[in-house]
Amino acid sequence: MLKNKSESNTLKILISLFSMKIGFFQFEPKFLEVEENINLIISELEKTQNFDLLVLPELANSGYVFKNKEELRKVAEEIPKGVFIFHLEDICKNKNAYVVSGVAEKKGSTFFNSSVLIGPEGYISTYRKLHLFDREKLFFEPGNKPLEIYDIGKAKVGLMICFDWIFPETTRILALKGAEIICHSANLVLPYSQTAMLARSVENAVYTITANRIGVEKNDEISLNFTGQSQITSPKMETLAKAGKDTVELKTVDIDPEIAKNKWINERNNLFKDRRIEYYSILTEK
Ligand code: ACM
Repeated sequence: MLKNKSESNTLKILISLFSMKIGFFQFEPKFLEVEENINLIISELEKTQNFDLLVLPELANSGYVFKNKEELRKVAEEIPKGVFIFHLEDICKNKNAYVVSGVAEKKGSTFFNSSVLIGPEGYISTYRKLHLFDREKLFFEPGNKPLEIYDIGKAKVGLMICFDWIFPETTRILALKGAEIICHSANLVLPYSQTAMLARSVENAVYTITANRIGVEKNDEISLNFTGQSQITSPKMETLAKAGKDTVELKTVDIDPEIAKNKWINERNNLFKDRRIEYYSILTEK
């Protein structure tokens, strides 16, 4: 029992020191309209109450359904000197917060489907999507950098993009490296990922933030319907927040990242220590 008001205030301060507000912004990036997408992100994030970490969808600067590399070249940007990153840096500085966002990246004459981590001090790092989906293989190079995690003060975070979800190795590696929150920028079209990410959470005891997009994009060759339902999942396989299928929504929740440090599921079972790696070598064979 707390004895008095000052004890209860101290407890509140301690809880707020260790808890963290995390969220996603689900919207419909307008195809090839970088400025419009930036303006929407700025206006929505600026008016949002404080948050510590917010995740935006895959290719949030550009949209998704490219017809050719010419279209992609018009909107992809060098990281970190492009206009999209510049504005995200400004938001992070103003909000004293971290943002993860999908971005079409240009590197010389090649393109990557990337996601960036930006904080109050500016640009931090880039993840390049390892597992390209379908027509993405026509335009983007597959990622060429290892999966890394980043200490953002209140938690350690890892980045992955959309179709990476179907390769459980992605989340596992991030979790083994120490990620407590997995930031999953997405443009999902298959109906499985939101359910699968609950499994990714519980099998690694991590939080996940899937920031998906909404809307339909089409050209002469293809029409894609994005599935929305962005969500935040917990190490205990709870859905802490979920958006609708076709609504623009920004949602945040308070979490305790410490919970994701505990990999014990009972006195005798530990998610990481109990792995039988001597029987897993096929996982890294070609
Ligand atoms: C996807 O990886 N954008 C489906």
